[in-house]
Amino acid sequence: MIGTGYVGLVSGVCFADIGNQVVCVDKDKNKIDKLNSGISPIYEPGLDELIKKNFTAKRLSFTTNIDIAINTSDIIFICVGTPTRKGSIRVDLSFVYKCTKEILKYSKRKKIIVTKSTVSVGTGDEIEKIVTRKKKLFTVISNPEFLREGEAIRDFRYPDRIVIGSNEKKAFNIMKKLYTPLTNKGSKFYTTSRRGAELIKYASNAFLATKITFINELANLCEKSGVNVEDISLGMGSDSRIGGRFLRAGPAYGGSCFPKDTKGLVSAAEKYKINLSVVKSVIKSNQERVNLLTKRVHKILGSNLKNKKISFLGVTFKPNTDDMRDSTSLKMIPYLCKKGAKVRYYDPSGEKNEFRKIKNCNFRNNIKSNCNDADLVVLLTEWDEFKSIDFKKIVKNNKFKVYDLRNLYSAEEMKKNKIKYYSVGRPTTN
Ligand SMILES: NC(=O)c1ccc[n+]([C@@H]2O[C@H](COP(=O)([O-])OP(=O)(O)OC[C@H]3O[C@@H](n4cnc5c(N)ncnc54)[C@H](O)[C@@H]3O)[C@@H](O)[C@H]2O)c1
Repeated sequence: MIGTGYVGLVSGVCFADIGNQVVCVDKDKNKIDKLNSGISPIYEPGLDELIKKNFTAKRLSFTTNIDIAINTSDIIFICVGTPTRKGSIRVDLSFVYKCTKEILKYSKRKKIIVTKSTVSVGTGDEIEKIVTRKKKLFTVISNPEFLREGEAIRDFRYPDRIVIGSNEKKAFNIMKKLYTPLTNKGSKFYTTSRRGAELIKYASNAFLATKITFINELANLCEKSGVNVEDISLGMGSDSRIGGRFLRAGPAYGGSCFPKDTKGLVSAAEKYKINLSVVKSVIKSNQERVNLLTKRVHKILGSNLKNKKISFLGVTFKPNTDDMRDSTSLKMIPYLCKKGAKVRYYDPSGEKNEFRKIKNCNFRNNIKSNCNDADLVVLLTEWDEFKSIDFKKIVKNNKFKVYDLRNLYSAEEMKKNKIKYYSVGRPTTN
């Protein structure tokens, strides 16, 4: 596995756990040192135990030496990052191409190169061009990854589908054998062209982002028309053609995938002179949502936020991960601090480097000390431990308010308890 991040590490550990010999390689020495001393560099439930188990069983090793990693392996998974290029919506594929060149340099015998990174349609063709000098040594396959952070191990073991894209039939058999322990438990195994597999991944993420954005926009309408968006989600989602998942209104979508992959898809389409207008408006709507929800703090606390104490519960883009990439908090917190608010936050995954240098922003290491004198508690991430808070007990400020971006609490209950409560897509009860 080249790239020992969320995808490479989880996939590597899980491949080892189903009996394969796995080498995880990363250029980040710090990460590899941590892993070799038994510490996971990322927070992912259940991962520490699996690392320990497979490391001890000598099925799993970690190195920064890409030469050794390549030469001891038959199948090489590229799992490096594919971020958005700075100042553009295009995908930065330089990490993928850089490690392809390393594979070319060090390979002395036949190898299968598999892209697990999310890559633009046609990237497999580019990889093939790079390795053309030793063409006979390589088969290039696409095997996009669909795991979700926070559920990654379960998703790896029980994927809805495994997608393999190749232009060579024999590659399907090799990959089928590798994935047999999963297909034996019922996971579907789909084969397609290499470009087809590359595009399936983008299409899936763009569609999920569209579903979230759709219900988020409807939430705005619900608030104005006195309807509860949860009724809409339920009423719509129980239609099997629609499905209820990803139909919960909340903050803008974030994370390491949807924001960059929606943009990546639009830019790939532009290369072919295709206008993906639906995905474009999803991107725009999602960006506007961050501003809309941030500005709503003014509606709750007034235009002057100077010295207002605002306590965030959760700052990661979703629960059970430490990943901060494109989280709504990255825009909300700096904005509020700039307006003079005193922001403190608690997240079960710990303090965040992203906020260390922001004036008036402090980490607290538990819910109680985070909220004790708050003017406003903002519930941003739905970690389990935020679901049954007795606000009256922990907040010692008579006039505090709660802004629940995940609709974790009942508006009626809050009203009964005389707590000023604001949520998303529900009629106001205050
Ligand atoms: N994170 C997710 O939930 C998720 C889910 C599905 C697909 N993906 C896709 O998988 C890919 C990886 O995502 P991630 O979240 O794991 O990224 P990540 O940033 O967590 O990890 C990438 C790792 O690659 C390493 N790396 C980069 N270049 C290298 C090189 N030449 N040699 C060795 N190591 C190198 C980096 O040091 C880093 O540790 C992306 O394309 C992403 O879109 C991510």
